[in-house]
Amino acid sequence: MNKSFDPTNRRAFLRYLATSPAILGASRLWGQPAIDIFDPYAPQLITRAQDAINVFDLHEAAKQKYLPGHYTYMSMGTDGGGTLRANREGFKKYQLRPRRLINSRTLDTSIELFGQRYPTPIMIAPCGHQKAFHSEGEIPVARAARTRDTEMVLSSVTSLAVEDVIDARGKPVWYQLYVDEKWETTRGIVKRVEAAGCPVMAITVDLPISNREADMRHRRADNPNCQGCHAPNAGVIPLKPMYRGLERTFSDRSFLDWEYVDRIRDITDMKVVIKGIVTSEDAELAIEHGIDGVIVSNHGGRAEDSGRSTIESLAEVVDAINGRIPVIVDSGFRRGTDIFKALALGADAIAIGRPYLWGLGSFGQEGVETVLDILKRELEIVMKQSGTLNIAEINSNYII
Ligand SMILES: Cc1cc2nc3c(=O)[nH]c(=O)nc-3n(C[C@H](O)[C@H](O)[C@H](O)COP(=O)(O)O)c2cc1C
Repeated sequence: MNKSFDPTNRRAFLRYLATSPAILGASRLWGQPAIDIFDPYAPQLITRAQDAINVFDLHEAAKQKYLPGHYTYMSMGTDGGGTLRANREGFKKYQLRPRRLINSRTLDTSIELFGQRYPTPIMIAPCGHQKAFHSEGEIPVARAARTRDTEMVLSSVTSLAVEDVIDARGKPVWYQLYVDEKWETTRGIVKRVEAAGCPVMAITVDLPISNREADMRHRRADNPNCQGCHAPNAGVIPLKPMYRGLERTFSDRSFLDWEYVDRIRDITDMKVVIKGIVTSEDAELAIEHGIDGVIVSNHGGRAEDSGRSTIESLAEVVDAINGRIPVIVDSGFRRGTDIFKALALGADAIAIGRPYLWGLGSFGQEGVETVLDILKRELEIVMKQSGTLNIAEINSNYII
């Protein structure tokens, strides 16, 4: 038998070629990353943001640049990562029901939220400590939010002051609040943020405490030598800019209750949104307490190990809210189809966390812009495939 025509051998030979150091070396010399021809869906190691085909390519690129401890901080979930995985798995439990033969040449992906118009329903979720991912911290993200006219929610533990981030964004951002046990500290931050012009404050309520095993392990193993963020002892992070001049209490936040939220409402004219709602009961209470919006979130799998994804929590919250206030959802959004599913289940907008941190870590502002562009492009594709011409048309008829 002529072995050169044996398909098994041909496969083996191609596999050898694809992984051979000679071919890999040559492909690098030509400036092209090697492609695994047997796994066309494997993320590629790109060297330019413009070469990213999906957001996972930016994840691969970011891995080359992050310090190991920072990577762990970004990627980890709580406990053994159950909710983290559930967030992605959850999307598979819903399927699309696309309609055919609808002229979808012209699409409108814009939405309105609190009287503001945005080109897409995609928002930037608050993520702390961004100097861990880029030397300029939150600034490249703010600049990308500006060029893409995207709403950015700034974390309480931002590496930079809210005023500087607003300068880079070109308009006030939303602010995410971690309450402090010391009322004067919480009050001081709320007043500062309000004075800076932030129109909306999102109070995060899903982290009374959390068990971050991966982070604990890496903190012990790492010896970060980055004095910009860490004090000389490994893992000790000095006071963040938003706490300067205030006394920060590093206790758990299990004291937080609706009474405390009411107290915050009483001292501010900003719109107050609650981040971390995952049940209909709490959605009802949010309405009773005069809250202006909710974010269905499990902190990207970093809060409790519930086993339930936010896409699975969304429907009960949407039902309870019944159109009275906006519902935003985050945790695990990586694809246009994920966004479409959330919109079909009744969300008004979605937010992303890690994907833009991958963009930030790999290519700075351009990386974040690329993530936003990719998700918009993918959303447009699924809208065309489904025959939905604008966001309002995406409803429960398009999903099972
Ligand atoms: C590195 C990192 C830091 C975060 N920091 C905060 C924070 O300071 N405040 C907050 O409310 N949520 C924080 N989150 C949660 C995000 O706002 C958001 O809920 C989550 O990242 C969404 O899930 P995704 O990363 O899968 O998109 C953080 C998430 C990550 C990954």
